[in-house]
Amino acid sequence: MNVLVIGGGGREHAVCHTLKKSKKTDKLCCIPGNAGIAKIAATKQLSVFDFDGIYEYVKEQNIDLVFVTPDDPLAKGMVDYFTERGIKAFGPTASAARLESSKAFAKRFMNKYGIPTAQSIIFSSPDEIRDYVETAKFPLVLKADGLALGKGVLICETKDDALRGIDELMVSKAFGDAGNTVLVEEFLRGREVTVMAFCDGEHIKLMPSSQDHKRAFDGDKGLNTGGMGAFAPSPYFTTDLEAEFLEKIALPTVRGLKSEGIVYKGVIYFGLMITADGLKVIEYNSRLGDPETEAVLPLLETDFVDIIEACLDGRLDKLDIKWRDKTGFCVVVASGGYPEHVVKGYEISIGDLEGVTLFHAGTAVKDGKLVTSGGRVFELTGVADDIESARKLVYGQIDKIKFKDCRYRSDIGRV
Ligand SMILES: Nc1ncnc2c1ncn2[C@@H]1O[C@H](COP(=O)(O)OP(=O)(O)O)[C@@H](O)[C@H]1O
Ligand SMILES: [Mg+2]
Repeated sequence: MNVLVIGGGGREHAVCHTLKKSKKTDKLCCIPGNAGIAKIAATKQLSVFDFDGIYEYVKEQNIDLVFVTPDDPLAKGMVDYFTERGIKAFGPTASAARLESSKAFAKRFMNKYGIPTAQSIIFSSPDEIRDYVETAKFPLVLKADGLALGKGVLICETKDDALRGIDELMVSKAFGDAGNTVLVEEFLRGREVTVMAFCDGEHIKLMPSSQDHKRAFDGDKGLNTGGMGAFAPSPYFTTDLEAEFLEKIALPTVRGLKSEGIVYKGVIYFGLMITADGLKVIEYNSRLGDPETEAVLPLLETDFVDIIEACLDGRLDKLDIKWRDKTGFCVVVASGGYPEHVVKGYEISIGDLEGVTLFHAGTAVKDGKLVTSGGRVFELTGVADDIESARKLVYGQIDKIKFKDCRYRSDIGRV
């Protein structure tokens, strides 16, 4: 089977790496890919929004399956587009991807099907929301409805913070139309864990749980980033919690989607908070998470293409998906100023890495040399018996990666 992966970050490198191992993959292609992906797949520089251009490439390369990884092309209907043209595409349709692309849709959905989540009120007028915050309890959380590059969520400690946030999201429209509707949400306290799952429209199969570290610096200091590292499974996601998750969250989500007439085929990402009051959903994503995927996929034993086909054919229940009983661990190697002031184009040198896998995120080849081309440059990944040995393994190798101002958190997995 000829497979095309859409996207070009560390997550897509992990997806390509896993697809490459499948007995069923003949040709592997990726748009746009990066310098690491280019070593294992044919890459092509096209925008992920150029559906017609990608379709031309699909025909040219005899692609049988398109794996759509990032949120934006999913929300814009890339899976619908290819399916309509008779090409198999893995991922939810635009309608199904609303679980992520509209936080108001997701909240109404959870409330309708009794899925535990933070209480919230949905506003579409700045005046009404300002009136509301006059008497609200703090801290509270403001959330832009639409996709906002992970920056549309503001935790507000005071009324002034909230008023400024409302201006940013709804008046000066920092995230465009994503802020036309804004949710005001109860602030949840607890520990965050992620569970990603495969879904075939009827059945759901969980991947190992995971945790990521979003802040830029050690000790959870600094700005929020796309993620500085991750590990799987999470020691906090116990078998009791897993049972609670299946009964109260995962299965009702699948049943709810079906009742709404939505056939969800792809990955559902559940962002969860373990609160004193039980597990609650913080958000859904309609695809694999980054960098959680880089920690989770190295644990997969079953052929990845078999799983994708079972999802597309609606027979996930018949497939026994096997995971290694180990810990997957990944640390992001970032550009110096990430996430604020990223300088790109620095030359990279990589020593002899032993016992680890290097996923490229923001890399390119310029004049025959490997250079940085993004904020997150690499994810160095290792698999070991437990978190401590995985930490030792990865941190023991990481300084072999060198470029100007390169930086990483040294406390990934210390939780
Ligand atoms: N209701 C809430 N209570 C406490 N923290 C929250 C709440 N909602 C979101 N957060 C925090 O903000 C982060 C981002 O929010 P999320 O809903 O995941 O949006 P996105 O990933 O689209 O930015 C979460 O990972 C969590 O740390
Ligand atoms: Mg999130």
